[in-house]
Formats: sequence, structure tokens, C-alpha cells
Amino acid sequence: MKEIYILGIETSCDETAAAIVKNGQDILSNVVQSQVKLHQKFGGVVPEVASRKHIETIYAVVDEAFATAGLGYEDIAAVAVTNRPGLIGALLVGVSFAKAFAYSINKPIIAVNHLHGHIYANFLEKPDIELPCICLVVSGGHTSLVYMPSRQEYRVIGETRDDAAGEAFDKVARFLGLSYPGGPAVEKAAREGTPGVHKLPRVFLDKDDFEFSFSGLKTAVMNQWRKLEKLGQANVNDMAAEFQQALVEVLVEKTIRAAQKYQVKTVLMAGGVAANSLLRNSLTKRAAEEQLKVAFPSLSLCTDNAAMIAGQAYMQYKCGDFASLELNAYPGLLSL
Ligand code: KG4
Ligand code: ZN
Repeated sequence: MKEIYILGIETSCDETAAAIVKNGQDILSNVVQSQVKLHQKFGGVVPEVASRKHIETIYAVVDEAFATAGLGYEDIAAVAVTNRPGLIGALLVGVSFAKAFAYSINKPIIAVNHLHGHIYANFLEKPDIELPCICLVVSGGHTSLVYMPSRQEYRVIGETRDDAAGEAFDKVARFLGLSYPGGPAVEKAAREGTPGVHKLPRVFLDKDDFEFSFSGLKTAVMNQWRKLEKLGQANVNDMAAEFQQALVEVLVEKTIRAAQKYQVKTVLMAGGVAANSLLRNSLTKRAAEEQLKVAFPSLSLCTDNAAMIAGQAYMQYKCGDFASLELNAYPGLLSL
């Protein structure tokens, strides 16, 4: 069988990334140039700054992906690029680069949905995951429970009504004076604190559906914090621990309930928040109690990267799902 090497390009938010993956499985290179330091002083991603940095960085990142893989341009079968969802200016840099590059080397283009890429990260490392399954997609921009009867079918059975889980981590971190990105900062502070010292609601846990709401949880943090400050009892680490616990409990319980309702044997996770240790440990524990199998990507494949884009693109390559030079970028999801 002829080996299929695909170049993946990812610029949907604040990581400029390029990777080469063989046959949708073997990661030959996975270069991620993070802009975190650049945005840290603003407490969040500044879209225009992100786009400009992608332009400066993308050539070098793609070059490095080829050099690390030890391949030349002629060796690849296609150029894959994230074209939705994400920051429009940031996406456009990747899409424009991919189109020009693919045209110049006479290779086809594959347009990849960023969230399909996140989900694919599970299969990059464990191609034999048993389906059907439930996948909890938790990133900076999205929180959804997805029922997957097969590798190509994604049915959203519930999602957040307001903020995404990662967005809540980022906003709460900023409010508490912790650094950006908020998820790792809250997780670090929480390690020094105790959940339950301050008390937060488990929003929507009592509701018999698969919807989430994290904006209310964030507001509860703010209201409590102001009261505790007046009493001289506010403790950042304890608040971080309770916030993380409140958010994780709801994510885990709803994922387990979804697995039971849809009678699947496997639960997966995808997206940056899936890097959270409490979430990984809690889901593993609860899944074991319910005799469910659990899988999630290793840490570097949870957060944004291009290996997951090149991997997902291989599935599309096999079905002949190619884009044209008319390809555009879209900030929102057309559908999952
Ligand atoms: O998937 P991702 O890298 O980018 C998007 O597609 O949005 O996810 C980024 C989000 C950020 O909100 C970040 O705070 C969160 O993932 N995140 C975490 C952790 N690491 C990253 N959240 C909780 N705990 C973590 N360890
Ligand atoms: Zn992402």
C-alpha cells in the first residue's frame, strides 16, 4: 500500500501549528508555536494580534514540520487546513497559506472542522476505540456532548447554553487575578486549595438533559468572592479548587448519563479542557464504576495542534472529500 503523508495546518486561535501525519496514524512531526506569552499581558487572546503573529510564523512552522519529518514537498498527498470554527482573521491566515501552498506544489486541499480534529486526536493514539461512543468536547470555544455511532457521524446531544468550559476557566482565572490561559492556572491554584471550603452550585446537574451552563457558575464565583473579601475570608486556592470541582462534577456526571442513555460502552474526551487532571481522573474513576471504557488524548494532543488536523484529513482523503481554491474560512460551526 502506498503511504499517504498529509500536511496539516492549524491557525484557528493562538497556536500556529503544522504537522505531517502518515496514514492518519503516525505523527512524523507536530510543530506548535504558541502565542500565549504575547496574549498573556492582555489576559486573553487579542484576535488582530493573533492574526498578525500567524502571518509572521506560519512559513517557519511549516518548514520545520517538513524538516522534522524528513520529507520534501513532493512527498505529501494533500494539504489540510482548519477552516472552521475559530477567529476569522486567524483562520484566514491558515486557509490563505494552505491554498497558495497547495496550488504552488500542485496538491489537493482538505478543509477540516477544528472540532472533528479534536475528536480525531483520540483515534490518533488509539485507532481501535470501540464505537458507538459518547465524546465530551470541551475547549475554549465549545462544550458539547457528541454521540458518535460511527467514525464519520457526529450527533450533538447537548451543549452549553452560554460560556464554554474553557471560557469559564479563562474568565474565572482573570477575575481571580490568575494568569492566561486560565485552565492550567486554575488547576495549579486548585492543587493548593480545598474544594468545599467555599461553596458553588453544580449548575444543571439536577436537569435531566445534556445541556450545560457555565456563565452562571462564573457569576456565582464573582458574587461569593466579593462577599468573602468583605469578610476577609477569600482564598484564591480554595475558590479555584471549588470552581474546578463544580465544573468537573457536572461534565463528568452528564457524560456518564449520556453513555447510559445511548447505551454505549466507551466515553472519550476532546479539546483543551480535556488536559485538566481532575477531569481526566474523575471521568476515569466514574467510568470504571459504571463498567465503561474511557479514552482521552495525551496532554499535547488535547490542546490545539495540527497533527489532529492532518489525522482527520486522512479520513476525508479516503472519501475524496477535497476543497477547491474557492475555500473560505468560517468563524462559526456550520454543523458539527
Ligand atoms: O482546544 P483548545 O486548545 O483551543 C480551543 O479550541 O479553544 O482549548 C483551549 C482552552 C482554554 O480555555 C484553556 O484555558 C483550556 O483549554 N485548558 C484547560 C487546561 N489546559 C487548557 N482547562 C482546564 N485545565 C487545563 N489543564
Ligand atoms: Zn481547539
